[in-house]
Amino acid sequence: MTIKHVLVPIVMEAEATPFVEHLELTQVEDFFPSHTPFLAFSGTHSETKVTVITMGKDNVYDTGVDNVGTVPASLATFLAVEKMAAEGSPVQLILNGGTCGGFKRKGGAIGDVFLTTGVANHDRRIGIPGFDKYGIGTLETTIDPTKIAEELGYKTGICTTGNSLDKTDKDDEYMMENDASVKDMEAAAIAWVAKMQNLPYMGVKVITDIVDGGVPSHEEFMENLMSAAKSLQDALPKVVDYICNHNQMDV
Ligand code: ADE
Repeated sequence: MTIKHVLVPIVMEAEATPFVEHLELTQVEDFFPSHTPFLAFSGTHSETKVTVITMGKDNVYDTGVDNVGTVPASLATFLAVEKMAAEGSPVQLILNGGTCGGFKRKGGAIGDVFLTTGVANHDRRIGIPGFDKYGIGTLETTIDPTKIAEELGYKTGICTTGNSLDKTDKDDEYMMENDASVKDMEAAAIAWVAKMQNLPYMGVKVITDIVDGGVPSHEEFMENLMSAAKSLQDALPKVVDYICNHNQMDV
């Protein structure tokens, strides 16, 4: 299938801006309901329509920081998919771009681009049969990224999601169980929406910090955020080209 429309949820403005500017996407006013903080940018890359959404800034707790975490990501992604379907320009692929923590035990280094082979949660611990599996919420990526990663020089692995930048010992256990190569705060939520909407999903994640490296995540994250956003600007068009325009992927 040829993909004509890709939705690219990127949570933070700083992560999205270089890519948005590089593709000369323009902001779509009134895309989201006016009482939501989410933003949308649209344009084309090669033959493909690209819609980037960001989760905007927090005005509920009055902090003004980016709306990171699973709740805004799933809500904005769902609204965007519904809106585009209603407008007759349905989304055909969700590519979640963003930064992540990497695990050196899985070969991750700062600046590496990872394409996700699947997602799971590490902070949804519900010790009741059935609910335990629901909590972990493992979903395989519907596109096999092996070939594309080989060709573009990227790595592949599972992204584990939780609503904290740091980690507890319990998180560590679950991240190990999830066989995670990278750690973020949104992927599993966006993949859940994609699954519900029967859409293919893949994460394109750039490592800003090493989870099992001994340096506090927030320090490395702030230091490497800008260079990771530049890498995303470079990687996302290549991934879009590969999947959508070369028609080389079975989506
Ligand atoms: N985004 C970038 N680094 C992260 C980390 N260590 N944990 C969660 N999300 C991240």
